Amino acid sequence: MVFSSGFALCAAITGAAALQVPFLSSNVQTPLGHPSGSKPLVNSTELQDLISGDRLMIRANKLYEIAKLGEEEFNHPTRVIGSAGHTGTLDYIYEEILKLGDYYDISNQSFPAVSGHVYESRLVLGDKVAQSAAPMGLTPPTKDREPVHGDLVLVENSGCQSTDFPDSVKGQIAFIQRGICPFGTKSEHAGRKGAIAAIVYNTEKDGVQGTLGNPSPYHIATFGLSGEEAEPIIQKLQKNKTIDAIAYIDAEVNTIHTNNIIAQTTQGDPENCVMLGAHSDSVAEGPGINDDGSGTISLIEVATQLTKFNVTNCVRFAWWAGEEEGLLGSDYYVATLSEKENAKIRLFMDYDMMASPNFAYQIYNATNAVNPHGSEELRDLYIDWYKSQGLNYTFIPFDGRSDYDGFIRNGIPGGGIATGAEAIKTKEEAEMFGGKAGSWLDPCYHQLCDDLGNVNVTAFVVSTKLIAHSVATYAKSLKGFPERELDIAASKVYGEGVKYHGSKLFI
Ligand SMILES: *[C@@H]1O[C@H](CO)[C@@H](O)[C@H](O)[C@H]1NC(C)=O
Ligand SMILES: *[C@@H]1O[C@H](CO)[C@@H](O)[C@H](O)[C@H]1NC(C)=O
Ligand SMILES: *[C@@H]1O[C@H](CO)[C@@H](O)[C@H](O)[C@H]1NC(C)=O
Ligand SMILES: *[C@@H]1O[C@H](CO)[C@@H](O)[C@H](O)[C@H]1NC(C)=O
Ligand SMILES: *[C@@H]1O[C@H](CO)[C@@H](O)[C@H](O)[C@H]1NC(C)=O
Ligand SMILES: *[C@@H]1O[C@H](CO)[C@@H](O)[C@H](O)[C@H]1NC(C)=O
Ligand SMILES: *[C@@H]1O[C@H](CO)[C@@H](O)[C@H](O)[C@H]1NC(C)=O
Ligand SMILES: [Zn+2]
Repeated sequence: MVFSSGFALCAAITGAAALQVPFLSSNVQTPLGHPSGSKPLVNSTELQDLISGDRLMIRANKLYEIAKLGEEEFNHPTRVIGSAGHTGTLDYIYEEILKLGDYYDISNQSFPAVSGHVYESRLVLGDKVAQSAAPMGLTPPTKDREPVHGDLVLVENSGCQSTDFPDSVKGQIAFIQRGICPFGTKSEHAGRKGAIAAIVYNTEKDGVQGTLGNPSPYHIATFGLSGEEAEPIIQKLQKNKTIDAIAYIDAEVNTIHTNNIIAQTTQGDPENCVMLGAHSDSVAEGPGINDDGSGTISLIEVATQLTKFNVTNCVRFAWWAGEEEGLLGSDYYVATLSEKENAKIRLFMDYDMMASPNFAYQIYNATNAVNPHGSEELRDLYIDWYKSQGLNYTFIPFDGRSDYDGFIRNGIPGGGIATGAEAIKTKEEAEMFGGKAGSWLDPCYHQLCDDLGNVNVTAFVVSTKLIAHSVATYAKSLKGFPERELDIAASKVYGEGVKYHGSKLFI
């Protein structure tokens, strides 16, 4: 078939050169059944066949060079929002899509993003340094960024009502149980009552890596503490024993402007859009080549290869910023959609971490029972594809850890795939996927070593082919895919029971 030879030709050329060779240039025979100059309707197999590891890795190398722009300010490569590495990433995405000419309309969406940085912290309880104490994300510093002294005051219930806080907490340190309401609410109540710091202790043995979320002027310096370390303290406090404490957090919370990049096909029904996203930013600790350089690159590559085809439905690609600070870009995007614009998005597919070195092929367990109708059909599309490829897969919780969260909460069906973060690979998973049991799926998750060595090309290619399949399938036809249930979306509350907002717990 004419197509096959045409595609083989394109696929054989790697690097930038291929982008400049139009698929149907005048010396390539126009295939039968298509009017002259028109493109064939997107075909999943053909789109998948255009995905190559070489092309993905050329882009990964480019992204690592861009991350190095962050070295001047951070002393190591990073693409965290506000860094030169991140603005370089945005420029790269924008330019790559711009090269594709009028196939896409590109837009920048600027939004305010809070970013917090803890420079130093310490918590001493009685005469012991609290080993599990972890400052909450977006915590303010202690007064004058100096250590503060006070007695621990046990707060009643879960500290979700201001009445749970005794007046005696004024000038002292609030000791609050985790649960029921967000950490930010507890910190705010403590601050209003005049506490000088707050500690949220876990109800389980382990520590709490949380975030206060959106800053409030009443937030005070707040730590998470493990249930294990909290237990003897609670017992003493309940016996009315006094425990003095020293809390110290040197931190900063800043608001900067950054932006999402959105690219939408100019062809295809604009009333029925297939949307997908990856996040363009990394954490401050490293270059984020797997998290989420991989998804960023997969989307650029699928967007590039898609231009060789025509589409029935509009396809909208998004590169979110501020994901690592708590899904800021995607939240802002969904929150600012009018009802009419919201209704045009038939589904949202999240692609965060596509190439983990010790990977598992993970599918978000997004079911229609607790998510907008259509989420489960998308989940099943992923299942069917892995099955058809003879590959194993696992389900992971659909619990708010990435950019799909805002979509689900606003009635838009969602789902996605991933290859694993800081979860430990089980023995069963090692049998299913190879790799090393007992190690993290991504051993460099949120660390400096998330660099070019932190990518498994096999997983990268498999994931990107599945992304291509998801785009091709729905861009071609949404027949049989549930219509948006607008009334239900407005009246039903999704996202209950979700504990994460991004990589951190918020409740
Ligand atoms: C895409 O397909 C539509 C409908 O089939 C057709 O009207 C349009 O000309 C095609 N566009 C291109 C660029 O092939
Ligand atoms: C898609 O392309 C493959 C490979 O060229 C071909 O075998 C298949 O028939 C095509 N599917 C459709 C629906 O055209
Ligand atoms: C959009 O943002 C990109 C990346 O920061 C930048 O290169 C481009 O010039 C911006 N375009 C417009 C129209 O603002
Ligand atoms: C602790 O003090 C409170 C209030 O002063 C009192 O009601 C309670 O009985 C005391 N508990 C113990 C175990 O002494
Ligand atoms: C997937 O989620 C549903 C609830 O929506 C639950 O009943 C099911 O057990 C979950 N499956 C797995 C494998 O986690
Ligand atoms: C799938 O997992 C089973 C173990 O559950 C294993 O025997 C098989 O080789 C795996 N298949 C692939 C393609 O890795
Ligand atoms: C990637 O994973 C495959 C399958 O487990 C393995 O064969 C290969 O060695 C891995 N590549 C790297 C670079 O780790
Ligand atoms: Zn991520």
